[in-house]
Amino acid sequence: MAALKLVIALSLIVFVLAGCGGSSHQNASSSGQPQQPGQLDPSADATGQLQTFSSNGTVDFGNAFFQDLGTNGRVCFTCHQASDGWSITPSHLQARFNVTGGTDPIFSPNDGTNCPTDDVSTVGARQASYSLLLNKGLLRIARPIPANADFTLTGIVDPYGCASAANLSLYRRPLPATNLPFQTTIMWDARENVTQLLFDNLKSQAKDATLGHAESAAAPTDAEQASIVNFEIALFTAQSVDQAAGSLDAQGGLGGTRALSAQQFFPGINNFLNQSQTFDPVVFTIYQAWAASPGTDNFAAGRASVARGEALFNTRKIDMSQVRGLNDIVNQRIIIGSCSTCHSTPNIGNLSVNNPMDIGTSDSFFNTTTLALPVYTLQCNSGGFFRVTDPGFALTTGLCADIGKFKIPALRGLAARAPYFHNGMSPTLMDVVNFYNQRFAMNLTDQEKADLVAFLNSL
Ligand code: HEC
Ligand code: HEC
Repeated sequence: MAALKLVIALSLIVFVLAGCGGSSHQNASSSGQPQQPGQLDPSADATGQLQTFSSNGTVDFGNAFFQDLGTNGRVCFTCHQASDGWSITPSHLQARFNVTGGTDPIFSPNDGTNCPTDDVSTVGARQASYSLLLNKGLLRIARPIPANADFTLTGIVDPYGCASAANLSLYRRPLPATNLPFQTTIMWDARENVTQLLFDNLKSQAKDATLGHAESAAAPTDAEQASIVNFEIALFTAQSVDQAAGSLDAQGGLGGTRALSAQQFFPGINNFLNQSQTFDPVVFTIYQAWAASPGTDNFAAGRASVARGEALFNTRKIDMSQVRGLNDIVNQRIIIGSCSTCHSTPNIGNLSVNNPMDIGTSDSFFNTTTLALPVYTLQCNSGGFFRVTDPGFALTTGLCADIGKFKIPALRGLAARAPYFHNGMSPTLMDVVNFYNQRFAMNLTDQEKADLVAFLNSL
């Protein structure tokens, strides 16, 4: 009976969404409540609905973010889609491929194919050449081993045959172009941290994306860069409805974009790495009210699970060792912490300082069989070597100590943008939780795993 009611509720939501059409963006929400100005219509995702709010008062679809600034027909929105949490997902990419026979601008060989010289002359050839993009939502980022690096590339095993020391093939997920006011590290390898100012780093990023992804012959003007950043920095995106827990701002819940856009933040706000500051491991508090009173309706069990998951995220013990960028920084061989030790920005979950970490996601051990990514052997001048699918932060600093480090990403809007991690190695959030369970020998019970996943899906 409860399940039937849910199905009816969800089909009503779909009906309302369909009725709204694509052009009007400020109507009544599915719950009948008038929306705040600046709210985009919610979009359906794997476990409910996702919503985006713009603090500019309206989401301006005329902004340069949606304009063709290059030569291959791509715009920022091509790879940063609102319905995919401002990233892209394999299922939507496959739909775009099927509708266009693989000629949608995202299917461009400069960084969409597994290698730039791949055959794209027929639909069948395109299906094969864009396999990493279609199956994992991965773009090919090419970076050289830095000239002054304190390590050398001594081996490449590359299933695609186009990687070299001057041109490593790094297959990466688009990071969400939303919730940016909370960011301190731009790009997986922090390569756009060119100044101390977020706004300037994002301008540099917009310029490089136009020159690279969109293959523009000239950089966008300073005014165009600023306009793009003013657009994207006003966006706030979060899950708003969950199939099991219902509306995420009901019954005292503080999910959704309203509370998110009011979230306090400054760089370093809560940071375990700063040992002279008091660290608060209770990072997520948005579902605390549900722990005590989940309600008595059909969504009560769902709310209780989300609240348990939030508590587990904050406090479930993890013994952490050999995390470069963490154990070495605070000089502790073993740290007894939790998910929130690293994901420490209140109610966002990124790290509030620029300090990438190596949790093993580019380790060839986890990747060779499952992902079919190139594996690079890097010999450190000081001795020792690494086998990784992506050197990460080390390509920005040239330091052996930074091999395999990636930014700690924000955790909002996750349900809409599988797969996860920089290389899309985890198809689902359960796979993410299983990765941590294995990497840190957490011995999570099935119930703990399910609660953590329910919580992550509600962000
Ligand atoms: C072809 C796909 C593609 C296009 C087009 C594209 N991006 Fe991206 N974007 C990516 C990928 C992939 C990454 C992550 C790359 C990395 O970290 O190495 C990314 C990262 C970003 C980030 C970093 C977010 C963070 O948290 O660090 C921002 C901001 C961004 N893009 C904005 C833009 C803007 C603005 C444009 C248009 C000028 C644009 N993108 C065009 C694929 C794309
Ligand atoms: C030692 C630091 C650390 C701990 C502890 C940690 N994480 Fe992470 N987390 C990271 C880093 C670094 C990444 C990015 C790695 C990558 O993409 O290669 C990440 C990425 C993620 C992502 C993927 C987000 C995306 O956009 O793809 C999720 C989800 C996540 N973590 C959830 C968790 C959960 C749940 C826990 C606790 C069970 C946890 N993390 C514990 C450092 C940590």
